[in-house]
Formats: sequence, C-alpha cells, structure tokens
Amino acid sequence: MLFFDFGVMKEWKIGLGVCGGIAAYKAVEVLRLLQKAGCFVQVAMTKEATKFVKPLTFRALTNQYVIVDDYSADNPDPIAHVNFSQNIDLLLIVPATANILAKFANGIADDFLTSTYLASTAPVMVAPAMNTAMWNHPATKRNVQRLREDGVIFIEPVEGELACKTVGTGKLEDVENIVRQVLSFLESRQSVEAVEQDLEGEHLLITVGGTREEIDPVRYISNHSSGKMGFAIARAARRRGAEVTLIVGNVIASPPEGMKVINVVSAEQMYQAVMDELKKATVYIGAAAVADYSPVNRSSSKIKKNSDRLTIELKKTPDILKAVSLKRHDGLVVVGFAAETDNVEEYAKEKLKEKNLDLIVANDISSSESGFGSDKNRGFILGRDGSRVEVPLMSKEEMAEKILDEIVRLRNK
Ligand code: PMT
Repeated sequence: MLFFDFGVMKEWKIGLGVCGGIAAYKAVEVLRLLQKAGCFVQVAMTKEATKFVKPLTFRALTNQYVIVDDYSADNPDPIAHVNFSQNIDLLLIVPATANILAKFANGIADDFLTSTYLASTAPVMVAPAMNTAMWNHPATKRNVQRLREDGVIFIEPVEGELACKTVGTGKLEDVENIVRQVLSFLESRQSVEAVEQDLEGEHLLITVGGTREEIDPVRYISNHSSGKMGFAIARAARRRGAEVTLIVGNVIASPPEGMKVINVVSAEQMYQAVMDELKKATVYIGAAAVADYSPVNRSSSKIKKNSDRLTIELKKTPDILKAVSLKRHDGLVVVGFAAETDNVEEYAKEKLKEKNLDLIVANDISSSESGFGSDKNRGFILGRDGSRVEVPLMSKEEMAEKILDEIVRLRNK
C-alpha cells in the first residue's frame, strides 16, 4: 500500500500534461495517487495522447474539462493556456515523449500543452518514456541538457522491458516513485518558502564520508563514516539558500538532490577535488573522515596469505583541512570536525588552533548512539572567537542547523 506522510501540506494544484505514448495510461494512475495525496489536478492532453487514452477518462476522474485544443468550440475558457498555466504550483508531464521534450527545449508553442509550458511560471517536472534509441539519440540528449539548464526537473526513465519488447533505458519510472518525487519536491519547496534564506549568496564546499586507501585490488583501509552528518549539513544549507558542492567519499546514505556532487575514493583524490573546487567556495566544511594514513605501495595483484604476519608500510595522507586553511582566500570560513572518544572538547580546541580554523565541531564518538553511522550526534561547536555551543544528543539534521547558525553568526560579526 502506498502511504505518503508529508505532515501538514497545502492542497497543491498540479497541471498534469499527458503526451502521446503507450505509457499514457499510467498518467491515470499518477492522477489518482496525486488526488489521494490531497492534490488538486487539472489535466491537459496532446492530440496524440487522446489516441491512447480518451479525455473522458480524465474528465470523469477530475470533474474538470480536459483541454486538448484551446480553440475547440466546446472549450469553456477562451484563454485557457494562460488561466491554466497561471493557477498551478507545478506542471507535470507524464509521459514526456521525445517530441514534447524537443518542442519544450526549442520554445515551440503549436498546441495547448506547449503554449502552457511557455506561459507557465510554475516549476516543471517531466517523466520521459520512450524507446531506448530515442532516449539515447544525440538530439534528445541535447534537448534534455537544454531543458535541465532551463530548470526543468527530470524524473529519470528507468531500465526495463519496453513496449517494443526491447530491454533498455526509456521505461517510465514507477507511478509510485513519480508521485513520491513530485510530493517530495513540492514539500521541500514549501519548507524553503518558510525558511529564512540566511545563507543566500554563500557557496558551501563540504567533504563527506570516509576515504578508502587501497592495499590491493581486494582490500582497503577505511572507517565507519556513513555520510549522514555531511549530507544533513548540505540539505540544511540548501534549504537556507546556499549553493552547495559536495566531495563525497565512501558513504551509505544518498546525497541530496539539487547540488553538485563529486565522488572520490582516496584521501589523495579528495585533496585534489577540494583544491579544484575551493576558489568558488565561501565556506569550507571538512565533515569527511579522511584516512590519516595510506599504504606506501598499492599491490596491483591480490596479496597472498602465505605468512602469519603481514606488515604494510603506511604514509601520511595530505591534511586537506590544514591545506585549505593555509590557502584560504579572503572571506572563506573554514570549519573542521573532530571525532574524539575522550577529552572531546580539549582535543578539539587543540585542532581549532593548530589548523587555524574558524569553527570546529567536536563529535563525541564514545558511544554508538552518536557519531559514526548513527542518526544522532552530540558534542560542541567551538569558535576561534572563544564561542562555545554545547550540543546535547540530537538528530544530525538538528545539529546541522546549529552548525549553520554558528557560521551565520560568524559571518555577521
Ligand atoms: O558520516 P557519519 O556517519 O554521519 O559520521 C559523522 C562523522 C563522525 C564522520 C563526522 O561528523 C566527523 O566527525 N568527521 C571528521 C572525522 C575525522 O576524521 O576527524 P579527525 O579528528 O580525524 O579529523 C579532523 C578534521 O581534519 C576533520 O575535519 C577531517 O575532515 C580533517 N582531515 C583529517 C585528516 C586528513 N588527512 N585531512 C583532513 O582534512
């Protein structure tokens, strides 16, 4: 059973555009699920879509006139493309054919749906469905790229058996996932609208997760970082108006949407990625658990276990946080983390000074309820100005807000 729990939601008004593809019938299910989630949905169809599903189906389910041709004699609204487009919170296209993507990308407005796309100021989400060759065609790729640049949000097609009996990418995403993505997008917009944009103009560069230092093709040295803390900061910063770039090592959590993500494996790669991105940043946050040592030599073949003991020579990895601090440009706020099992505050103070940081977040990792892998964290946020915020056990989301509050406080000082 599908259950969407988005707390108190407003009644979203969604314009559902249905295009002419075999997956058009799935738009009916999308409509029903959106209605079940409390949305008001009005439907528009292309002429080709009506060959797959009758407008009457949508009319019966929405109790609304379904617009195909705004010049049609029975259309009750003579300027429907303007009225329809101005009264929605989201324009959602299911399924989006290669043809509609091409028209949207090039500003062609030769029917009701394409005119609505141009006339609308609401965000647009499209769920493409087409044959794999059409999806991979350079022309479609160009159109998709252009639409992404124009701010259109894609609900990516998935791999599977297509109507033409071939297997590949181009299948419409599951209707439940489409609706989930739509509601999650609307919900995050709602919370952005309610949140003070006190990080607007800031660009946060955040390292997340653990690094992996390879010993041989099979084994590596790493740690238990899940990425939850770094991603929580990224999400909160985005909500508060910041641009975010993430340098992501080994994680188990998924990176948030709407930000640049650079994946790396080793400390050395993380160092390079940070140095490449640093100039654009106004705030650097080292939330990653970077391995302090890496094997001097990586064996290209699997090391055989033919002796009782094995010695691996290790060398120090580059200290990324220290390098950032040394190279800091005007206005860059540098925030480090310290994961400690004992003397948490004392050791963190030493790191704050030694690495010349603006802030340090000291994590207490002595118990499993906080720190690595957990959804919660506790510790202190210490500032170079002598500030001290004690953070009792709380969710990483809440702690992220406290860290960002301290960054804003420093910035406004
Ligand atoms: O990912 P989670 O499961 O949510 O867990 C969160 C966390 C515990 C990993 C995170 O909040 C945290 O504490 N990250 C830093 C862990 C760590 O490596 O601490 P450290 O005391 O060894 O390093 C101090 C600081 O120097 C850190 O900001 C670290 O990113 C940085 N560092 C360390 C070594 C190195 N070679 N380069 C670095 O930049």
